[in-house]
Amino acid sequence: MMKKQFLLLLLVVTFVGASAQKFENLAKTPPMGWNSWNKFACNVSEKLIMQMADEMVSSGMQDAGYEYVVIDDCWQVDRDANGEIVVDKDRFPNGIKYLADYIHSKGLKFGIYSCAGTKTCAGRPGGRGHEYQDARTYARWGVDYLKYDWCNTTTQDSRASYSTMRDGLFAAGRPIVFSLCEWGNSKPWEWAKEVGHLWRSTGDIVDRWDAMIDILDKERDLAKYAGPGYWNDPDMLEVGNGGMTTEEYKTHFSLWCMLAAPLMAGNDLGNMSSETAEILKNDEIIALDQDTLGKQGFCYRDNGDYEIWIKKLAGKEKAACLLNRGDEEKLVQVDFNVLLKANDNYWSSDPYKLIDYKTRDLWKHKEVNTEKSTVWVKLAPHSVKVYRFIKKS
Ligand code: GLA
Repeated sequence: MMKKQFLLLLLVVTFVGASAQKFENLAKTPPMGWNSWNKFACNVSEKLIMQMADEMVSSGMQDAGYEYVVIDDCWQVDRDANGEIVVDKDRFPNGIKYLADYIHSKGLKFGIYSCAGTKTCAGRPGGRGHEYQDARTYARWGVDYLKYDWCNTTTQDSRASYSTMRDGLFAAGRPIVFSLCEWGNSKPWEWAKEVGHLWRSTGDIVDRWDAMIDILDKERDLAKYAGPGYWNDPDMLEVGNGGMTTEEYKTHFSLWCMLAAPLMAGNDLGNMSSETAEILKNDEIIALDQDTLGKQGFCYRDNGDYEIWIKKLAGKEKAACLLNRGDEEKLVQVDFNVLLKANDNYWSSDPYKLIDYKTRDLWKHKEVNTEKSTVWVKLAPHSVKVYRFIKKS
């Protein structure tokens, strides 16, 4: 009898233990892709998403590392008598699997959106009470990435709700990157590492300089919570959407890469200026984001409108980003020796020597002469300079 009880207990523990986990070995570097929301909002369709997948390839975005094509809100209209989610047939006449297959045929991955509440933020049917059913549907369709929002959740507990969806996804058996979108309300950085691969840490980005910088400020204390497979998400990119200057978009993109943020382009890929393409495809800046050490950058010096951000990189390398937040041009004195040694522990510094490194300017794509370690640097308003210290072999 005792033995039987023990076996039963073991079975229960094994079952619960096995289901209560996220898919490991996904998003080891921050996910990169494109999402429909920032530019197209509810105006999504099969035609648009297929076109964006085509553009992702022809524009060279895929070669630059962008991988996921994600449909955000508004692809869904109802639930049928069995509780199955119903796709908008007018906009997606061939269904979602057809679209996923098309995206996969291009060597890209496919992402979709739903919400932990009864309705999505745009008022479409949410996932509440249908988590396992929806997860099985997503697996059947070939979904690789799920963004899960937080509207219409009333008194739901976020950790419990997101854990239910995580378990649903795991039970459905298809490895899916799980992107939590509860805007930092319940400090997901403190608990979501076990639940998803990325979590929004702020409210929605707006395509304006002050809104973007406001998000940066909110990321400042979160560096220690991120790492390979679990990222803070300061929201998707606005680069190319028109609300900021080219200089400001360079800054936006550089900062997101310093933060090891997921890089979800949010612009019309079919109508991309050369400046936008140059920003989104800057491989040297992207390499900071995708660095395998997976460290989020930290604010090393805060001199009001002038900040220095540092990101530790694999192989004892480092990136430094000088940020002029102000509306005036600034002339700043930079000591590369100090930047190379910069540490997130105020009292210590890394024992690196400038002579062992090449210093690159990652927007000029040029090596910087550091024979004199201290130089004066001019920073235009709202601009950055990004340097990488590369170990000489
Ligand atoms: C919320 C999210 C956005 C977007 C919309 C869709 O606002 O934070 O990123 O997904 O919902 O309705």
